[in-house]
Amino acid sequence: MKLDRKEILKALETISVAGEGKNMVESGVVQNVMTFGDEVVVDLVLTTPALHIKKRAEVDVMKAIHDQIDEKIKVKVNIKVENAEKPEIKGKAIPGISNIVAISSGKGGVGKSTVTANIAVTLTNMGFKVGVLDADIYGPSMPIMFDVENARPISVEVNGKSKMKPITSYGVEILSIGFFTRPDQAVIWRGPMASKALNQMIFDADWGELDFLLLDLPPGTGDIHLSILQSLPVTGAVVVSTPQAVALADAKKGVSMFMSDSINVPVLGIIENMAYFTPEELPNNKYYIFGEGGARNLAQDLEVPFLGEVPLVQSIREAGDYGRPAALQEGTVVANAFDAIVKNVVQEVVKRNDSLPATEAVKITTMAGCSAVGKN
Ligand SMILES: Nc1ncnc2c1ncn2[C@@H]1O[C@H](COP(=O)(O)OP(=O)(O)OP(=O)(O)O)[C@@H](O)[C@H]1O
Ligand SMILES: [Mg+2]
Repeated sequence: MKLDRKEILKALETISVAGEGKNMVESGVVQNVMTFGDEVVVDLVLTTPALHIKKRAEVDVMKAIHDQIDEKIKVKVNIKVENAEKPEIKGKAIPGISNIVAISSGKGGVGKSTVTANIAVTLTNMGFKVGVLDADIYGPSMPIMFDVENARPISVEVNGKSKMKPITSYGVEILSIGFFTRPDQAVIWRGPMASKALNQMIFDADWGELDFLLLDLPPGTGDIHLSILQSLPVTGAVVVSTPQAVALADAKKGVSMFMSDSINVPVLGIIENMAYFTPEELPNNKYYIFGEGGARNLAQDLEVPFLGEVPLVQSIREAGDYGRPAALQEGTVVANAFDAIVKNVVQEVVKRNDSLPATEAVKITTMAGCSAVGKN
């Protein structure tokens, strides 16, 4: 009997996870499904060691497969118990760095850098090792957002090679082109130079072991994006948009860029920033000044996950300017929003790593407008 992995996943999708409103596959409980002849091995990850829950999960899996496909199938269920806050991340991209997540938007100014900084500190709070590479060579913002504007990375010896040491702030490792230029200096980078500088910050840096390296990309879908995707095995991309029509149209372009055959980076989902205005003292009052639900609808149309919404609140802007990402303030509207978003991001990364092989750096052979982009 030849078993179809997809069919088994479909059967497992009929099992719902208590309290989550999601099925076993969506919620990331199913970590892996392997078939060997007429035998299926299902790896589950549970967040509780309770025996009756383990037993129940095992019985549910067997029953779903036997009832819906064939009762003669041999089913083996492996159960691993892990802390809910820290699922195992698989799929090594570059040595030491488990996952590279690109944060992008089509339109400028929609809050990519703000979202990147807040995701970074939220992940760190959850116990992950996190790095941020500010790849916005035109307008680097991480030095300000992490209050390390005057920091200068030092060089350290690693295995006889000299490497750049990222700057640490709030537990996050950071490298930015802003560390190498003066804030008042307008820097004009040509494509090849920019990609060389970025390559150095990625490959000639002592990042250590990271669960996540977040890339804060410049706005748009231009040469620099292609150049980065050319040189880096990106695990997945997160697209940020506001609910405004102009931003949504550009977000759509961003999603199609990642999904295009020649680039093929999985889109982990869309985040709606500035979803509504809320005065911090009246968190139940929501004013949809840029329109309501635009990014959620876009995600649905494009069939990519919707990762959540961030309200427009004054403290986010202030915290960004002050150099202390707002999500660090526990129990606030902002911290709660990022908590929910980050859990979804992690879940999508885990799901992606289960279903797809590690992304290779994109090899772009011919693409219009790409001639200026070189890998140096
Ligand atoms: N949810 C929010 N609430 C309040 N202010 C916000 C929010 N998101 C972003 N901002 C503010 O909006 C401005 C633009 O945000 P940010 O720099 O993060 O955007 P960006 O998409 O990275 O811009 P660019 O395209 O220039 O890189 C900043 O001043 C930031 O503090
Ligand atoms: Mg930015």
